[in-house]
Amino acid sequence: MSKSISGFSKLSKSKKIDWVVDTYFSNKEEAKTIIKQYWNANDKLQQLHDEFIENTITNYYLPLGIAPNFLVNNNLYTIPMAIEESSVVAAASKAAKFWLNRGGFKTEVISTTKIGQVHFTFNGDYNILKKYFQHIKPQLIANAKPITKNMEKRGGGILDIKLIDKTNSIANYYQLHATFETLDAMGANFINSCLESFANTFKTEAIYFDGIKDSDIDIVMSILSNYVPECLVRAEVSCKVEELNEDPNVSPEDFAHKFIQAVQIAEVEPYRAVTHNKGIMNGIDAVVLATGNDFRAVEAGVHAYASRNGSYSSLTHAKVDNGIFKFWIEIPLALGTVGGLTGLHPLVKLSLEMLNKPSAKELMMIVAVAGLAQNFAALRSLTTTGIQQGHMKMHLMNILNQFNANDNEKTTLIEHFKTNVVTHSAVVEAIENLRR
Ligand code: MEV
Repeated sequence: MSKSISGFSKLSKSKKIDWVVDTYFSNKEEAKTIIKQYWNANDKLQQLHDEFIENTITNYYLPLGIAPNFLVNNNLYTIPMAIEESSVVAAASKAAKFWLNRGGFKTEVISTTKIGQVHFTFNGDYNILKKYFQHIKPQLIANAKPITKNMEKRGGGILDIKLIDKTNSIANYYQLHATFETLDAMGANFINSCLESFANTFKTEAIYFDGIKDSDIDIVMSILSNYVPECLVRAEVSCKVEELNEDPNVSPEDFAHKFIQAVQIAEVEPYRAVTHNKGIMNGIDAVVLATGNDFRAVEAGVHAYASRNGSYSSLTHAKVDNGIFKFWIEIPLALGTVGGLTGLHPLVKLSLEMLNKPSAKELMMIVAVAGLAQNFAALRSLTTTGIQQGHMKMHLMNILNQFNANDNEKTTLIEHFKTNVVTHSAVVEAIENLRR
């Protein structure tokens, strides 16, 4: 039976570890050893990680892999990817190589507008509220100047604020719907600070406006939206159908036909669309994480966008036009290359430098490309050999590690499975045979 504890966050790190080890583990020494094994020997680096969050006891590692050969708008990139799934980096690299010889990826940022809302209730006449909003709007912007002046100097800031009537959905519910340009910052703190300033001005100034009492306006909350359909990027690959000629067992025409069918299925069938988009997010999240961005925000926004027409659908599309095969993605991505973890986490700094210190717009393009490449690799396998061949080849090492295979055993079995089908039971059998 575990026990509750108060004042936990105030304990020292070693006392926190003692508590968790004493409370939950039968083999306390082993638990402590694992926790400490993942500490960094460099105390300063460890302290940095300790201080990212509260109650840190150790570090949780993910591999950081790199996928070279990405030609994006005629620039070559090596893309850093933080991910645990065995086949993702290999798939990205293969797709990059395929398109490297066919013109590479073409991308464009369509828009970069971010959104935040003050949600409030108003108990009174909408016409008076509209007049008050028109009257107070310049002051909402002026009072936020201490927050916005630096962003404005760089060319960003508040784009607009609108009053939205939501009383059809909830009685007395309105919004201040604000749009922002946050340039190279993801902008969450900037937007939230602006919104809280708007809310404060909106509430406190209301009593001076004829026809509104202080108690008429109640601020419910002020927060950015992670739904960013106006922060959009598009990435595309295209080539002549006859150039889709990598696999001697499939004609380029059949390949294109089946590939497009697979995309169409994901466009109309939500069960397939979710898995199709999950594969896209394999690539997107891995780069988002490696570059210190918030993958939960990206995930939430991307999936909302995938259902914007009322039914969950594919994020990618494909067609053949005049003998040209085209495959593209359009997704919302609110990313930053300054602020947040970007200047703090040494591996994030390394990843951004590997990408030639991109602007947020450039990073949007690179991340979209990683998603498109991942989807291309998945659909190519799914519509030709099936996914398991490649997946299980990559998964082989995980199974070998589960059975504590030594280096010699690994070498022998990797060789063996170059010509044999990898299944979990086949690997177990091969290990047992080898050890007999
Ligand atoms: C696995 O992580 C991703 C795939 O399922 C994606 C897809 O089915 O398109 C292979």
